[in-house]
Amino acid sequence: MPAPHGGKLVYRVNNKIEIADLPEIRIDEDMAKEVENIAYGVFSPIEGFICKNDFESILEHMRLENDIPWTIPIVFDIENGIKEGDEIILKAESGTTALFKIEEIYGYDKKKYAEQIFRTIDSAHPGVKRIMEMREKFAGGKITLIREGEEKFKKYYLKPYETRILFKEKGWRDVVAFQTRNVPHIGHEYVQKTALTFVDGIFINPIIGKKKKGDFKDEVILKSYETLIKNYYLKERAVMSILRTMMRYAGPREAIFHAIMRKNFGCTHFIVGRDHAGVGNYYGPYDAHEIFNEFPDLGITPIFFRSFFYCKKCGGVVNEKICPHGKEYHIYYSGTTIREMLIKGETPPENMMRKEVAEIIMSYENPFVE
Ligand code: ADX
Repeated sequence: MPAPHGGKLVYRVNNKIEIADLPEIRIDEDMAKEVENIAYGVFSPIEGFICKNDFESILEHMRLENDIPWTIPIVFDIENGIKEGDEIILKAESGTTALFKIEEIYGYDKKKYAEQIFRTIDSAHPGVKRIMEMREKFAGGKITLIREGEEKFKKYYLKPYETRILFKEKGWRDVVAFQTRNVPHIGHEYVQKTALTFVDGIFINPIIGKKKKGDFKDEVILKSYETLIKNYYLKERAVMSILRTMMRYAGPREAIFHAIMRKNFGCTHFIVGRDHAGVGNYYGPYDAHEIFNEFPDLGITPIFFRSFFYCKKCGGVVNEKICPHGKEYHIYYSGTTIREMLIKGETPPENMMRKEVAEIIMSYENPFVE
């Protein structure tokens, strides 16, 4: 099992902190999830919202100031009236409560931030749009979680210290992680099973949290995976747990970030397929493979896949490395095609999606984020 990123698993939880006299700031559920991720070490070695030097180093070098790989800034944008040195309580409606010791307040350049992270400043990009809506200043400083919030999918909310124990108990030495924000089509299943062939277990780790309009709802993703695992996976080879963070749609940079978090959960390998964490046409289909060349010191091994598709002539699921036949024989697993079929009330064919999975999705009146 790999050591956590940066050497030790961050654990910043203390429910005995006296909060009575401290000012309180309301945070939304997305921010509350980031607070818990920091506290439970999903973002190890980061111990709080990042300060200016790390922010700039991440933008410029894709590393923290101390040279540890890190590609996505974890930032807290603040309203006026908060000062360096303040101690404040962050509180979300779901109950998440944390102490935030403000070390530094700093301004930033939104265009540069967007351009470096997303390779575009087009506000049609959901990540860029989010930056443009942020307040003008960030606050950096350490977080201590005082109380965890309610989680609708609690039984799937495993912390890194728990998955590390679980993998050990299962006797898994090599564990491959699968990131997803989607319901599974046959292409996803093949990527997972091909990787699983070479390791001891698979960690299926869907992202639960803010997504863009038209993506599948969290509940639909989890239910469809439950069905897939029940019918098509060996129980002793697959674990599913949620990753509570927002999708950034930062393509290659996000692929590195995704890999780092899974290293913290105790995984040795990480699947990167076609257009990982992409949106629109902002990234090349395999940019998220190439970026790994810049991180020989990542500490988790990427497993790269070309796009899987169904070939009528091969009579099975293949990819361009193994199928010699022309495009006329190929059926591609397009999320958009599947979505369009579901909207029209049509069941996707079985060479595209498992019948049980399609049934689950179609049992929802509206399976999509509005
Ligand atoms: S993502 O935003 O989380 O990347 P998605 O849930 O669709 O989106 O993909 C999860 C993982 O499966 C990613 O690594 C992605 O590249 C990979 N993937 C999706 N579809 C295919 C496919 N047809 N062939 C190979 N890999 C794929």
